[in-house]
Amino acid sequence: MERLKVELAGLKLKNPVMNASGVLGLTSYSLERIAKAGVGAVVTKSFGLNLREGNPNPIIVEIGCGLLNAVGLPNPGINEAIKELEEALERVETPIIVSVFGFSPEEYLEVVKRFEKIGVSAFELNVSCPHVEGVGEIGQNVEVLAETVKKVRSATKKPIFVKLSPNVSDIAEMARVVEEAGADAVTAINTVKAMIIDVETGKPILGGKVGGLSGSAIKPIAVRCVYEIFREVEIPIIGCGGISSWMDAVEFFMAGASAIQIGTAVIHRDLGVFGEVVEGLNRYLEKKNIKNIGEIVGFAHKS
Ligand SMILES: Cc1cc2nc3c(=O)[nH]c(=O)nc-3n(C[C@H](O)[C@H](O)[C@H](O)COP(=O)(O)O)c2cc1C
Repeated sequence: MERLKVELAGLKLKNPVMNASGVLGLTSYSLERIAKAGVGAVVTKSFGLNLREGNPNPIIVEIGCGLLNAVGLPNPGINEAIKELEEALERVETPIIVSVFGFSPEEYLEVVKRFEKIGVSAFELNVSCPHVEGVGEIGQNVEVLAETVKKVRSATKKPIFVKLSPNVSDIAEMARVVEEAGADAVTAINTVKAMIIDVETGKPILGGKVGGLSGSAIKPIAVRCVYEIFREVEIPIIGCGGISSWMDAVEFFMAGASAIQIGTAVIHRDLGVFGEVVEGLNRYLEKKNIKNIGEIVGFAHKS
């Protein structure tokens, strides 16, 4: 599928479709399954320095037009994560992007330094989780965000993607801040901060009270974010949020994404969604006689 080959921040990918962090991708076995489903790159669950239990149940609620989750970044800690990744690197030929999180710029630096020693392809900084206090705030504060990216930049020559939060007043400005601080790409978007209340008990349903909304409900928000970011920065954008078909994916490319990620659709359906999106994109380009997917990136800005 020549038409789908892309170079993303220096990474040569057979296609521009990836899984979104956190929906699978915690173990070497699940990373291998995602790779076999036909993605161009696999993204791990976000890993931090220390073991974390995550939030109390319930952690996921289906709301019809999407999912509300407050998983709370459960985590095996860095030593276990490195073991899983070393195993995955032996078995998976597809590039592996490690998603990392921390509670301070120094912690991001520390985590990236540890992963830098093994052969991963790139880093995605999760600075935007809306249901873990101290992580989501990093992506909402211009100074701390810039400091985080600069620190990580000083520790690695590998591509750095920064996953942006939609829970800010101007996401394009945040993209510009991370570009200036040395990021190679941005991923947009993480989940939208949201909440659901049980009218019988009068209490928030999620154990973590506030969660993140994902799935088809947030697709128009994510498309708008990608569109705005595209006008502001030169670095590539990885579009994410509510994609479940090749048509959704085309929308993101036209808004300005150079690659896309799929999360909730894997939960609603199965891993087959990756192959379907890849094949659908290829057929679309063939039908339109477009030689490479890059030709439609940002197309919506021409009209
Ligand atoms: C259950 C669940 C867990 C998630 N965990 C992470 C995570 O560990 N790190 C991260 O950066 N994003 C995480 N996300 C956010 C997704 O990667 C993605 O940005 C978001 O869900 C929007 O994409 P989607 O609508 O295709 O799911 C998670 C989402 C869900 C639904």
